[in-house]
Amino acid sequence: MKVAAVATPAAPGAATVRTPTTPAADARAPGPVVSSHNEWDPLEEVVVGSADGAHVPAWSPMIAATAPEEERGFFQRLGGSPFPAEVVDAARRELEGLAELLHREGVVVRVPSALDHSRPFATPDWESGSGMYAAMPRDVLLVVGDEIIEAPMAWRCRYFEVNAFRPLLTEYFRAGARWTAAPRPTLRDEQFLAAEEAASLHSAPPYMVTEYEPTFDAADFIRCGRDLFAQRSHVTNALGIEWLRRHLGSAYTVHVLEPNDPHPMHIDATMLPLAAGKLLLNPERLPEVPPRFRDWDVRFAPPPNPEGARHLYMSSAWVSMNLLSLDERRVLVEEKEMELRAMLRGWGMEPVPCPFRSFNALGGSFHCATLDVRRRGGLQSYF
Ligand code: NVA
Repeated sequence: MKVAAVATPAAPGAATVRTPTTPAADARAPGPVVSSHNEWDPLEEVVVGSADGAHVPAWSPMIAATAPEEERGFFQRLGGSPFPAEVVDAARRELEGLAELLHREGVVVRVPSALDHSRPFATPDWESGSGMYAAMPRDVLLVVGDEIIEAPMAWRCRYFEVNAFRPLLTEYFRAGARWTAAPRPTLRDEQFLAAEEAASLHSAPPYMVTEYEPTFDAADFIRCGRDLFAQRSHVTNALGIEWLRRHLGSAYTVHVLEPNDPHPMHIDATMLPLAAGKLLLNPERLPEVPPRFRDWDVRFAPPPNPEGARHLYMSSAWVSMNLLSLDERRVLVEEKEMELRAMLRGWGMEPVPCPFRSFNALGGSFHCATLDVRRRGGLQSYF
């Protein structure tokens, strides 16, 4: 990063990005270091992912279930190898730009530690030829209030991805955060639908994860204070949602939505609350407003801009609506998404443009690439 990256003594390897205008963590107002109840309260501290050393997952039915069909050859050719250097370099530049923008807005920016994603690893049950990346903290970690929860992720190549965030987690724990790891799934073969089984099922979509043990990616949940919204997906099963529901207890309600998504994996290109009472919906996946939001101002995202060079190896073009709110008015938007920017302005919001099209190649956009650790505001009900 171009802004100064400083390793804190308490967390070797975890870099803190600061400029002289950003208050040091120990100079901030007293209160929990981790505190985020929704997707829109004023942002104070955020983790921004890293593209460094990103590896292409090996081709498998799990990848086939969510990656664009036309990218099959890419995965078959490069699975287990690094992403092409030009992809990683361009993503890295955009992440640096994002970090600098957030920093200018007075947000404390943290980054994961370096992790060698090329190393093979194994459990007693299976082996993975490589890891993947630490580009998407949103997939790995869920912040609910003052608690950070490690997600029990279903892709074998992501089994140790959380290690890139462990120094930060330890630091937050030392500073008073609650830190929980959901039960680590064994990811034995029974966890996955066999390829032939998937092909023989006619009900859509057959989820690739079975109910063998709880699994979820954190990005299959969206937070609105006391209400969380989830989807089942090719990585999140009913047991995983039930684990979170019981873990959070009676102070929270976890609602399960059923979007029309033939390749479900991560809900944050399907619905995104941008402010209290303002919900952005994907018109293809949730063409009808979910009943819980009937009193909200709900609008549909315009189609993604097909122009502007980018390669989407791991996601749909709907990452255009994968936004990050700085507060209830200002929201980060990819700079070439002109129609979305105009629509947000017409909604009384202030879109903050940021180039991020190259990063999209890794499978997400602003919301995926970040984890809001602290937003100013308390726990409320919005329904
Ligand atoms: N799997 C989603 C992306 C979520 C950020 C999609 O491809 O649209």
